[in-house]
Formats: sequence, structure tokens, C-alpha cells
Amino acid sequence: MGKAIAIDGPSASGKSSVSKGVAAALGFIYVDSGALYRGVTWQAIRKGVNVKDAAAVLECMHNTDWDFFVQEGAAVFSVDGDVPVQELREKEVREAVAHVASVPEIREFVVESLQSLINFGSLVMEGRDIGTVVFPDSPYKFYLDADPEERAMRRYRELVTAGEDEKAHEVMESLKKRDQIDATRKADPLKVAEGAQRIDSTSMTLEDVIQTVMDKVQENV
Ligand code: DC
Repeated sequence: MGKAIAIDGPSASGKSSVSKGVAAALGFIYVDSGALYRGVTWQAIRKGVNVKDAAAVLECMHNTDWDFFVQEGAAVFSVDGDVPVQELREKEVREAVAHVASVPEIREFVVESLQSLINFGSLVMEGRDIGTVVFPDSPYKFYLDADPEERAMRRYRELVTAGEDEKAHEVMESLKKRDQIDATRKADPLKVAEGAQRIDSTSMTLEDVIQTVMDKVQENV
């Protein structure tokens, strides 16, 4: 059985860069669990489904053909034969995904799909509930955090680099709103998993955070 390194935390806490770095260093498969919630949201939008109608999104999700595979060291999925990547980052998806991710039956499907990826090999999985729900028995659990201002600034820089026309204060507002939904939803809210190591990355470099995770993982081998 492969190992599963769980990296949870709020938006823009550095989970993606850290998880990709750790996966590359260990030769593990990188998994962005949020991408699957975004995939369900994207599919509903392109099928013309009202994303606030949980039953309709659920039906759309069940009527879709999902296939998972590994490409260049990362787990990816196809949605009725298409592999969305950039599409998952679109504003429409970004704004609707927290609602979709708060539907328990949708979470069940995503959690089971994520758990099945262990059949491909050892994983570094980033998300919100990886240490609490997806792989609660993993000895490798981390909770990444950073001050909200720092996270908003990171997200703002990311969006500007991606060519998006965003205002810094709007990014801050949207990040706070998402934090609020993620932390207060009834189904699997974002929280620090039992046994997880909390890392505050506000004034750490990416390399330091990756090293902190690697040290802990090697301690547990
Ligand atoms: O990490 P992200 O921004 O791509 O996540 C998209 C949404 O999915 C966000 O609202 C949080 C939610 N999510 C979740 O509830 N559980 C996960 N394991 C990953 C993401």
C-alpha cells in the first residue's frame, strides 16, 4: 500500500507549491483535491445547471463519466472525455465551487475518488479535509497556514500573473468569504486534523516549508 501525505489549509496558504515540491522530491504523485470539486462545478456550469441547486448538480455529476489517471507525476481526471485544466481556474468556477463543495453527497463522491487514487502509488494530496476525512489514518498530516493579508497578497499576485484583472481589496474580500464558507460548512469543515503538524508559512520561504514537511516525513519512515 502506498503512503499518503496530507496537506490541508485555507486558500492561498501555499499548499499547492509545497505539495508539488514534496511530491517531486519524493517521487510521489501530486493530487490537487480541490480540482475535483472544481471539476464537478465546471461540468455543471457547462451543462447549464444552476450551481446553487444541489440536487441538480448532484444529478449532473452522476450522469458524467469520470476517469482518473496519472500524467507527469500528477493525478488528473477526464470529464466526459475532456481534461479541464485552465478551465477549472475560471472566475465562474472559482465563485461557485465553495457552494458545490458544501453538498455532502458531492463530498462523498469526491472523497471516494480521492481515496481510490492510492492504487496508483504514494501520494501527496492537498486540500481541506485530507487529514480529517480522506486519509485520517495517515501518519503524515500537515496543516499549512499564513496570515489572511499574506494569503490575499499571494493570491492577488497569482491572479495578476495569470493575466486576470483583479483588485487587491476584492481578492481579500473573496478570500475571506471562501474561508468563512470552508470553515463553517456542516460537511467536513476545514480544521486541523488530529495529529497534524501545523506550519505557519507567513514569514517562511517555500523551500523552508518543503524542508519542514520532508524532515517530518523522514522522521516517520
Ligand atoms: O483548493 P481550491 O481553491 O481549489 O478548492 C476549491 C474549493 O473546494 C474550495 O471552496 C474548498 C473546497 N475543497 C474542499 O472542500 N475540500 C478539499 N479537500 C479541497 C477543496
